[in-house]
Amino acid sequence: MNVLGLETSCDETAAGVVSEGRMLSNVIRTQVAIHAEFGGVVPELASRAHIRNVQPVVEAALAQAQMASSDLDGIAVTAGPGLAGGLLVGLSTAKGLAMALGIPLIGVNHMEGHLMSPFLMPEGGEGMQFPFIALLVSGGHTMLVQAHAFGRYEIMGQTRDDAVGEAFDKGARMMALPYPGGPSIAALAEGGDRGAYVFPRALMTRRDGLDFSYSGVKTSLRQFLRRHEVGTEDARRPDIAASYQEALVEALVNKSLKACHESGHRRLMVAGGVGANRRLREMLSERAGKVGIQVYFPPLDLCTDNGAMIAYAGARRLERGERSGWDLNADPRWGLTALSYKERAREAKNS
Ligand code: KG4
Ligand code: ZN
Repeated sequence: MNVLGLETSCDETAAGVVSEGRMLSNVIRTQVAIHAEFGGVVPELASRAHIRNVQPVVEAALAQAQMASSDLDGIAVTAGPGLAGGLLVGLSTAKGLAMALGIPLIGVNHMEGHLMSPFLMPEGGEGMQFPFIALLVSGGHTMLVQAHAFGRYEIMGQTRDDAVGEAFDKGARMMALPYPGGPSIAALAEGGDRGAYVFPRALMTRRDGLDFSYSGVKTSLRQFLRRHEVGTEDARRPDIAASYQEALVEALVNKSLKACHESGHRRLMVAGGVGANRRLREMLSERAGKVGIQVYFPPLDLCTDNGAMIAYAGARRLERGERSGWDLNADPRWGLTALSYKERAREAKNS
């Protein structure tokens, strides 16, 4: 089965083709440059860029897969969660294609897509199987998920305020570093001493469970910069960046290992933009290795938002006979645990 996946929920316009569970192409056009001057994603600009980019990206994904659209057996598209305007661009494109080609359409949950990325790893895919623990860390999410089986997910913990990517981005802005802040802070931290200063790790007692909180550490950085009058030329900046990053990362590592411990699962996968962080990879690999937990870090183009993960999740659903109707709509707040239409209806009624 050849499935094209479309992803337009945030600031990447992406498409990928998956055939029999293997990735044939993965084309991502990022809008980082468009949003950089605003220090964050501007929804209206994002929708416009998706409109401009979606067609060329689909064509590139088909070309890279050496396929014609007539070779496709289904179209998968992110239906949520995400920014409504962007989601609608993907949905209308996907519907148009599926209708014109006379093939089925399937709406995919963006977070389920992320959970599928380790299965697409060129080498690691074979070793990956359910059940596993997933750490989903991006500009919008910080979440620990227990994946029992395909379609059966349980959220073990999530952030109570800012996402960890936001803590990187806002911290970077306070330090006058360029957007996106994650890579900027990481780069500055390379030359710094991560033990130089101590920033708070929130919710670390046994009773706090597996939730995260990142607003306190952000405030603590702001106060530190003000109190110590840290200017843009200050020699302490690398140490500050390294210490701040250490606090953000350590909370992720502690809770991920705790989630593995509590669930008894020995496989842990990391997805989302923050998964690119070198220090996170280093600390998690080292500490997981000591307790016999295998960690899967998908390569960067599978870690961030992409179309191949949507194609993969969509293909698995199509194989099970699932279909979306032409009335498939964007669901900006679609939760990961309400994956079937029945569950979605129930969730909508209760909220
Ligand atoms: O998954 P993603 O590309 O987009 C969504 O938010 O959906 O994640 C973007 C986030 C941004 O907050 C960015 O600062 C962060 O991932 N990020 C990083 C690194 N690369 C990207 N954070 C820490 N270290 C990095 N190397
Ligand atoms: Zn994402």
